Amino acid sequence: MKQFLCLLVFALTMPFAHSQENLPTDYLEKEFHHGRREAFRALMPANSVAVIFSYPERVFSRDVDYNYHANPDMYYLSGHKEPDAVLLIFKEAQGTEKYNEVLFVRERNAAYEMWTGRRLGIEGAKSKLGFTTVYNGKDFNGFAIDFAKFDKIIYDKIPTDVAENNNPDNLYALLKSFKSKAGITQVNETSTDLFHKITSSLREIKTPEELVLMRKTVKLSCVAHNEVMKAVGPDMSENEADGIHAYIHKHYGAEGEGYGPIVGAGANGCILHYWENNATKIDNQLLLMDVGSEYHGYSADVTRTIPANGKFTEEQKAIYQIVYDAQEEVFKLCKEGTPIQDLNKKAKEVIAAGLIKLGIITDPKDARIYYPHGCSHFLGLDVHDKGNYMGNLKENMILTVEPGIYIPANSKCDKKWWNIGVRIEDDILMLKDSYENLSADSPRKWQDIEALAKQKSTFNDMKFPKI
Ligand code: GLY
Ligand code: MN
Ligand code: MN
Repeated sequence: MKQFLCLLVFALTMPFAHSQENLPTDYLEKEFHHGRREAFRALMPANSVAVIFSYPERVFSRDVDYNYHANPDMYYLSGHKEPDAVLLIFKEAQGTEKYNEVLFVRERNAAYEMWTGRRLGIEGAKSKLGFTTVYNGKDFNGFAIDFAKFDKIIYDKIPTDVAENNNPDNLYALLKSFKSKAGITQVNETSTDLFHKITSSLREIKTPEELVLMRKTVKLSCVAHNEVMKAVGPDMSENEADGIHAYIHKHYGAEGEGYGPIVGAGANGCILHYWENNATKIDNQLLLMDVGSEYHGYSADVTRTIPANGKFTEEQKAIYQIVYDAQEEVFKLCKEGTPIQDLNKKAKEVIAAGLIKLGIITDPKDARIYYPHGCSHFLGLDVHDKGNYMGNLKENMILTVEPGIYIPANSKCDKKWWNIGVRIEDDILMLKDSYENLSADSPRKWQDIEALAKQKSTFNDMKFPKI
């Protein structure tokens, strides 16, 4: 009787435990993900199966994990954002039931869900994600599949650092079962290459549904950049400027940032992947802000470099103008047909000429000292998104254009240039004959930045108690 009661309570509470109110209404629809699976299947070779795993959970501190981030390929192909899942996509329909895809998910569990959050479970994966063949992860090991009968098994790199665990439906068990069922002792490069080729060729072209989210994530990131331009002053800390970005991202419903924000003043702006953001005062220096939100999985990647006191010095302006000119020249190449490598070449050429003109270098090859990174990468679910970098630009690709010049102290040039670090980064949607700058809402011209800096920000009026 007691057992019956427990079951009854369980049955009554589970559906309620799962319902969640006031969620965003603009998530990608299950039809989008279904369409992506169909497109993936169309590119698979005959008699093949693709196996896609969730990303592992990662420890932040003892009992605490980092906020979970879904594997972008899993998300793209299924909409599933939970850990401990595996998706099988078959080229041809299988078995008497004629299924061509199977999803294994975490089993529903009221106790776990009370601690770590809701799970879709089998029913949720069917109703919310639109799959017809769904099992609990613990049934993957016993699932009747003869991997040997396929000509090709397509899979991504298998993580080798997933902690051993006895739970039969977590990622460790799924990976172990897969390796044993498929007889994989070491990663087969042609399998992972094919996975990357297929996912790159799909993800490098954004669909109309993805473009809606990309426009949104970039637009709201521009609002954040503009607000900091208004709010910033020499007494503000790097962390506080970072916090304004974060607040505005969340205000517009972004999950957070698509990558660790880079908010570096003066010398810190010369560190390409600066992440500490802990200078207590920006001072009368340039502030380099490379910050972009992640909105429903899609990342912006925007950099603006601004003078904290609202006015560029002559030296800062001279360096800034070269970077700006490099962007302008690269923009002219942004249209279908341009080899992607030409964007990098053009940026390097303009920067080298500019640095020679200022007497900072004499040999164009030395431009690499002050501009050591590339100009462009694909942007989407990953900030450095998948795509074919050896190919040509195509309509509906989104790439960044992000030249920069970084002159740390003690560089071999006049010390008046030291500690100037400038990057300007925009997110460019490629069109047939031209381009659209998705991040055009945030000013790039030094004159426009100085003008915006004169405006007041809501953040200037915020007062907190002294502690
Ligand atoms: N935010 C990283 C990059 O610009 O590539
Ligand atoms: Mn970038
Ligand atoms: Mn960036």
